[in-house]
This record gives sequence, structure tokens and C-alpha cells, in this order.
Amino acid sequence: MNAGILGLGRYLPDKIVTNADLEKIMDTSDEWIRTRTGIEERRIANDEINTSDMAYEAAKAALENAAISAEEIDLILVATVTPDQSFPTVACMIQEKLGAKKAAAMDVSAACAGFMYAMITAQQFIQTGAYKHVLIVGVEKLSRITNWEDRNTAVLFGDGAGAAVLGPVAEGKGILSFELGADGTGGQHLLQDGDFIHMNGREVFKFAVRQMGESSLSVLDKAGLTKEDVDLLVPHQANIRIMEASRERLGLPIEKMTKTVHKYGNTSSASIPIALVEEMEAGRVKDNDLIIMVGFGGGLTWGAIALRWGK
Ligand code: UT7
Repeated sequence: MNAGILGLGRYLPDKIVTNADLEKIMDTSDEWIRTRTGIEERRIANDEINTSDMAYEAAKAALENAAISAEEIDLILVATVTPDQSFPTVACMIQEKLGAKKAAAMDVSAACAGFMYAMITAQQFIQTGAYKHVLIVGVEKLSRITNWEDRNTAVLFGDGAGAAVLGPVAEGKGILSFELGADGTGGQHLLQDGDFIHMNGREVFKFAVRQMGESSLSVLDKAGLTKEDVDLLVPHQANIRIMEASRERLGLPIEKMTKTVHKYGNTSSASIPIALVEEMEAGRVKDNDLIIMVGFGGGLTWGAIALRWGK
């Protein structure tokens, strides 16, 4: 049984924080942020909006898009490093809110690669026939663990949620191949220590450029495909320079890479599903398109998926 995407949804908070807004509260500039990261603005959730609220909205939208009811969901996986609390999990909270009565539920913690880990976990249950419909959400309220006095990190992140309903699809469609990986020896380069995110930007940058390229090529190879077959690259939206390096490694023209980093910043595990929803809504994903999704993050972790669009 092949597992594929039956529907997608997203939620972004209304509040926009521009680079100019950040210039007023820290020693930074719009010019620095744009040229080093490609980010122009990000969304920040108000105090009343928690991670589970954003997850719920994105999940509802994905169910609607898939035309699947909450009662038909067998498993809910929520990828997040900013849950409302450690337990009950965000997955359990949205299970209740959605009324997904028969669904098992758990959170998955793999930082910015979390959505890739959740998708592949879902795939295993669908492939074996154990479960039919799995709801997965990538969601972060990174603003809660952002140190607004640390310009090295504060300019990079944003809040948001993206969700997908996975289920059985026709032969030749859905997830064709994947790669997941971890290297705990690099854990100190990107972590939450105390209340805040800490990062060695240069080390993470080098790791990301190398890993995004290698993982993308690896999933193509595993699927028996080549760079020429790729219709769309959906990289983790961390930094336009990292994304560009991956695109060049695959030799793709600029229009074959998704870009939302300029308007949402880095939303960690939410960035890949949000980017994919926007491609779908813009009508840029066609039946049988070959999509490469690739992410990296704290842990260190990484993950890539080759997916043939369609049911
Ligand atoms: O989801 C995974 C999350 N992490 C990432 O994706 C991060 C990967 N790394 C990066 O994206 C880049 O390394 C950064 C955007 C974080 C930094 O870019 P960089 O080209 O590696 O800059 P740098 O760290 O080498 O810093 C250059 C300079 C430094 O000043 P000095 O020491 O050369 O005088 C920084 O202090 O830029 C300074 N700087 C800033 N200046 C203005 C650092 N942050 C800022 C800032 N505004 N916000």
C-alpha cells in the first residue's frame, strides 16, 4: 500500500513583524537580514494563541481539503519543539478538539526535520495496512523560546502550522523514497538551553548546505530517478542562501523551488507543509509531479522525501 498526501492545510497568525519593526528593538538592519537570510517579515502569535490552537486550525483545514472527517483518522502525529506543555501532548489536545475519537495520538520531536520524521512514521502504518488515515501537523510557536535580545537568532524565526492527511494512494504515487538521519555529535550547535534557542549559525549553515544536497540526491537515487525528473523542490525554509545551495546542487531553475521564507521566516517543523500548501493553492502542483521535500534541524536531524503527487 503506497502512502500519499490526501489533503493539506495551514495556519499563520495575523500579526506581521517586519525587519523594520526589529530594527526598533535590537541592533540589526533590514539590509543585513534580507541579504544574509532572505527574510523580510515573519508572523508572531499573540499570547492568547498557543501551539495547539495553531495546530488545530491547520489540521481542520487539512481534513477539509482531504474531504475526510475527524472520525476517520486513525493516528495523529504532531511534530513540534514548542508544545503547550510536555503532556498532554499537542496531538492529544487536537484529538479532543477535532473529535477524532478513534485516533491514537503522539508528538514527534525532531526539530525542523520533524515533519519529515512524522510523514515517514505515518507512511509505515499506512504501508503495512495497520492504519488508513494519519493526520500529521508541523507546528511551532518559536516566539515563545526566542531571546529578543539575541540578534543572532531573534531575526530568523516565526510562528505557524502546516498539516497533511496521509492515506493510501494508487501505485506509483505518494512517497517513493525517503532518508532520515541524525548526528547527535552536533547537538550543541542548535539547542534550547534554559528558556531560549541558542545557535552557532555558521556551523548549522555548513551542515545544512551539505546535508540538504546529499539527502535530496540520495532520495532520488533510491527512487531510481535523476535530477532531471524533479518538478518541485520544497526545502525547509530556514535561509534563502541554504535553499539556493540545495537548488543549485540539483541543477534546478529558480521557478522549481518553493519560497516562503521571505514572508514567514523560519517556522521550523511547519515550514515544509506551509510551503507545500501554498504551492498547491497556487495551482503549481500537478498530478504526477515529482516533489522533493528536504529538511534539517537541531539534534542534529535531517530528512528528505521523494513524493509523486496525486491520489
Ligand atoms: O532551522 C535551522 C535553524 N538554523 C539555521 O538555519 C541557521 C543557519 N545559519 C544561518 O542562517 C546563518 O549562519 C546566519 C543567518 C545565522 C548568519 O549569517 P552568517 O553569514 O553566517 O553571518 P555570521 O554569523 O558569520 O555573522 C556575520 C556578522 C557578525 O558580526 P562580526 O562578528 O563579523 O562583526 C554578527 O555579529 O553579522 C553579525 N550579525 C548581525 N548583524 C546585524 C549577526 N546577526 C545579526 C543581525 N543583524 N541580526
